[in-house]
Amino acid sequence: MEKIEIIGGRALNGKVQISGCKNSTLPILATTLLSKGVHRLKNVPRLRDVTTFCRLLAGMGAEIVGRQGERELLVDTTGIDKLEAPYDLVRTMRASVLVLGPLLAHYGEARVSLPGGCAIGARPIDQHLKGLKLMGAEIELIEGYIYARARRLRGAPIYLDISTVTGTENLMLAACLADGKTIIENAACEPEVIELAQTLIDSGARIYGAGTGSLEIHGVTSLSPIEHSIGPDRIEAGTFAIAAAITQGEVEIVGCIPEHLRALIIKLKEAGVKLELADHSLLVQGPAAIKPVNIETLPYPGFPTDLQAQFMALMCLAEGSSIIKENVFENRFMHVAELRRMGADIQIQGSTALVRGVKDLKGASVMATDLRASAALIVAGLASKGETVVHRIYHLDRGYERIEEKLSLLGADIKRIP
Ligand code: EPZ
Repeated sequence: MEKIEIIGGRALNGKVQISGCKNSTLPILATTLLSKGVHRLKNVPRLRDVTTFCRLLAGMGAEIVGRQGERELLVDTTGIDKLEAPYDLVRTMRASVLVLGPLLAHYGEARVSLPGGCAIGARPIDQHLKGLKLMGAEIELIEGYIYARARRLRGAPIYLDISTVTGTENLMLAACLADGKTIIENAACEPEVIELAQTLIDSGARIYGAGTGSLEIHGVTSLSPIEHSIGPDRIEAGTFAIAAAITQGEVEIVGCIPEHLRALIIKLKEAGVKLELADHSLLVQGPAAIKPVNIETLPYPGFPTDLQAQFMALMCLAEGSSIIKENVFENRFMHVAELRRMGADIQIQGSTALVRGVKDLKGASVMATDLRASAALIVAGLASKGETVVHRIYHLDRGYERIEEKLSLLGADIKRIP
């Protein structure tokens, strides 16, 4: 198993280029199922989850030409003839469930493995299924698989009990080709939902209200193949901002959209971090002393749950105590036990963590448990005295493109050990 070794204590300095957004790429890859033809994606990040999604599409009969050089993918869906997402792929990447809506809308049937739970929570998909049933789909659960059929989906008013991100995306994808109007109330407003809507609109879909809590989609009879350049990954950008802050460095984060990081920027400023915002870059200067700051994770535009673990690592070195409340997932504190091994002082009460700042963290051997927890351990290792070894970094590679190369370009002493 690969691992990452860090000798901490060095300030990060310089420029880092942000890659395409994982959580935009995955639903946009699902969009290719809505029409037959050659779809062209640019600025695609080189991530395990993207490779997995391409394997999923290839298993259905799509031809994928990945011109790795320019990070460009061509997806030819002309030959799609197998309408299923098998367990062995779904269990490694829950976002596979995003094929359900488009397969139903375009082909009238789908066989998708029910995603199991994962480290951060049960992550049911009841809202996805509720919406599809309201649009006329017949859905059965047989031996861990979702069997769904619909002669033609029809538009319907849908109220989401939870503003689920991939739930909103799945239903938006389905509604594009449904017969009539669909309204999705309590829809997610994440930038990735807006980017997906824009990609669909560019291919002929009629979608209104993306980014507000209420989406209106008028079904059309067909869509043209998509052509899209993926936007920047706000969570990668946020992770580098926190890494700059915790190492008292000065880093220019290039090719990001600061507007998408408002909640984090406000909280970093409260912690004493200096930030300068430009249209597509963010200059972060880490302070000598970090002030304790309380956060609560919430759906966008609230503080993103995907940056909670990384921010907690920063608070471990604050001058005082901070309270971190995780409202989105029921078990997203897997990084706490590992941070404690590095000398952090953290108490957990249910979905709330009390972090008492310590003078310093000490390098240790730690275990990655999920994607963002592993990012938190890297961030903590950069600021720790001595050597940190992060094991099971396949979690990290799901959502960060060669993070150790980007960090060593910023001056970190970090290497990947095969
Ligand atoms: C998306 O996951 C992201 N993944 C996650 O990023 C992110 O953490 C999450 O949104 C929240 O922002 C992708 O976009 C591929 P949810 P998703 O459905 O859509 C409950 C990362 O690190 N829920 O918004 O699966 C669910 O259990 C990943 O990049 C239901 O109860 O998240 C959770 O508690 C991790 N029923 C809450 O809603 C449903 O039908 C939010 O989940 C759906 C969700």
